[in-house]
Amino acid sequence: MNQVDERGALPSLPAAFVWGVGTSAFQIEGEAEGRSDSIWDRFCAEPGRIADGSDGRIACEHVSHLEEDVELLRSLGVNAYRFSISWPRVMPSGRGELSGEGLDFYDRLVDGLLDAGIEPWATLYHWDLPVELQDDGGWLDRRTVDRFTDYALGMHAALGDRVRQWATLNEPWCSAWLGYGSGVHAPGFADHPSAVRAAHHLLLAHGRAVEALRSQAPADHQLGIVLNLFSFHTAPGVSEDRTQEVERVVRLLDGEQNRWFLDPLLLGSYPPDLLETFAPHLEGFVRDGDLRQIAAPLDYLGVNYYSDHFLLPASDGSQEQGEHSGLAGPGSYPGVGNVRWSDPGDEGTSMGWHITPEGLKALLLRIGRDYPGAPALVVMENGAAFHDPLPGPDGTVEDPRRGAYLTSHVESLIEAVAQGADVRGYFAWTLLDNFEWSQGYTQRFGLVRVEEGSLRRFPKRSFEVYRDLIARYRGGGGSGSSGGSL
Ligand code: FCB
Repeated sequence: MNQVDERGALPSLPAAFVWGVGTSAFQIEGEAEGRSDSIWDRFCAEPGRIADGSDGRIACEHVSHLEEDVELLRSLGVNAYRFSISWPRVMPSGRGELSGEGLDFYDRLVDGLLDAGIEPWATLYHWDLPVELQDDGGWLDRRTVDRFTDYALGMHAALGDRVRQWATLNEPWCSAWLGYGSGVHAPGFADHPSAVRAAHHLLLAHGRAVEALRSQAPADHQLGIVLNLFSFHTAPGVSEDRTQEVERVVRLLDGEQNRWFLDPLLLGSYPPDLLETFAPHLEGFVRDGDLRQIAAPLDYLGVNYYSDHFLLPASDGSQEQGEHSGLAGPGSYPGVGNVRWSDPGDEGTSMGWHITPEGLKALLLRIGRDYPGAPALVVMENGAAFHDPLPGPDGTVEDPRRGAYLTSHVESLIEAVAQGADVRGYFAWTLLDNFEWSQGYTQRFGLVRVEEGSLRRFPKRSFEVYRDLIARYRGGGGSGSSGGSL
């Protein structure tokens, strides 16, 4: 199919297409004195956990820069903004009543967005579990499922008169595998069986919350979950005699990263080929009815996409797994010690990730193909970190590679839509340079630079590139905001 018209431009997306940008609470909010500690505060305080020894206490001080940041969103031309709610800010002990003071900030944020013509998209959990719940076992304890459901219902009761778009969890794979499997993320456990159990409780928390929210929410509210999905490949050039062993691991990692979440959510069962490895870890943790609840019908599936992964035989015996692997060690799966991640070198991003725009299209089409009953897709995160130069004399940061990254991925998405993928929105990651988890402030994904110390905002060239992309591909002809919800 030829999707390019005679002028060489791709077709516009429908006027209702959601064009957004995303952030998360712990990464930008700051004002730690207005909330209790989360597992990330505790993790940051442990020596050696964060690359630059930093934390999220100040971050971008988004709380005190709210008006300025909403103004940035307005000038970016987005019709939607994705943010997460800090559970420890609105419910300091993780249970019980919502705190009026904590809610006040989100009230102001939501009102500010609506005034600016921007649809708020709320994510309930972007990794900052209140420490009191961690002390009760965190995601290894089934009671956290009930706590999450109560919190979700409380937040929906508080904001549901204005917020129609809700996501339960962001990237439960990271919470489970990086948090409990490799220990690269909070709470920092390195135990493979724990990762599998945490994942089950996270999925269950999602399903229960969706079920509960359905009974409370008006029919036009949309409920979803956000997964980080990546395709794995055998790297080009692997010799024929080694291909088979790499392919095995490719399949296994595809299972862990993608199908372990997609299958239960969309098919109501865990992927059979992984059960041999994972089932023993689940004994005593899965109860009758869990899988039915996990598969609660969704209005959309949020897809976070950054890069494809390429695996090679580990001929030197070393394991360069990088942050994206949740492998808890060579013993966690048979054969994983025999592979390593290919390194893109200068061609990649500063995270060491390959730049593979065609992978986004392939992924979006794959979901439709492999899961015919899948709900509408929304790309909820996509972006890239680079070592940016300092702002020039006019204050602009020249970041051509980030602009090119966004352009190529938006174009790839449009091609996927032209080939039949049901994609309703795209959110760039992220508005501001912010606290990039275990990388601290050493990795910058923002469309806007935030100067250390002064916290001054400097829009980068990629901010303009994204604004122009929205204007170019937004259907409906006119300017002004339209759409923003599914
Ligand atoms: C995703 C996270 C997001 C950000 C990007 C770069 O895994 O959801 O908070 O850190 O990666």
